[in-house]
Amino acid sequence: MSDRPVDRSYQAETPEQARSAYDDWAESYEADLCATGYRIPAMIAAVFTRYVPADAAPILDAGCGGGIQAEPLAELGFGPMTGIDLSEGMLKVAERKGLYAALKQQVMGERLDFEDDQFAAIICSGVITPGHAPPHSFQELVRIARPGARIVFSLRSDARQKPEYPAAIDGLTHAGAWKHVFSSRAFHSMPYGEPNVLHKIHVYEVL
Ligand SMILES: C[S@@+](CC[C@H](N)C(=O)[O-])C[C@H]1O[C@@H](n2cnc3c(N)ncnc32)[C@H](O)[C@@H]1O
Repeated sequence: MSDRPVDRSYQAETPEQARSAYDDWAESYEADLCATGYRIPAMIAAVFTRYVPADAAPILDAGCGGGIQAEPLAELGFGPMTGIDLSEGMLKVAERKGLYAALKQQVMGERLDFEDDQFAAIICSGVITPGHAPPHSFQELVRIARPGARIVFSLRSDARQKPEYPAAIDGLTHAGAWKHVFSSRAFHSMPYGEPNVLHKIHVYEVL
């Protein structure tokens, strides 16, 4: 395994490996990603403001990292926002920004420590992807979101996407757990660093 935190984050096979990679990367993560032209935060914030009402509260930022995708939402008055992430180092970066009403260390893929129907909207940027949150993470997001809540998430959409992720989304649709609202076109999410990586932003409404 490469020693670079970015490579370790891609290659992680367990939550412990992902946590260690992001703890080590936390202080330089945003500078490194922004140098690649990281587009997901801007795209997901634009979609979120179009499909989530301004008074939706509370909001969960699942896999919040250092909070880069929450910055425009906070500036526009969305909130209060709760952030969860498995990396304590990333949560410390987010805490310094003062955007979140609460920040908690939690692991997507395991049961989340929230009541059913707790959140009015969920944003999830760059997290539900191999080496990070597994496909079944969607089930817990649906459980803790209220009926009518919109879950706005990014998903890799190039040839290297693992079929288990779209299959999990379709499974929840066929089960009547949520319905599709919107999907963006595929865009180059890191055009100056990883030009082959494409993402889409999706919006699903919990039923
Ligand atoms: C690519 S970063 C995205 C961070 C932020 N949302 C953004 O768009 O910049 C992935 C984040 O997901 C977190 N993460 C990875 N696997 C996770 C899991 N299973 N549960 C919770 N957080 C996870 C990492 O610690 C990291 O902060």
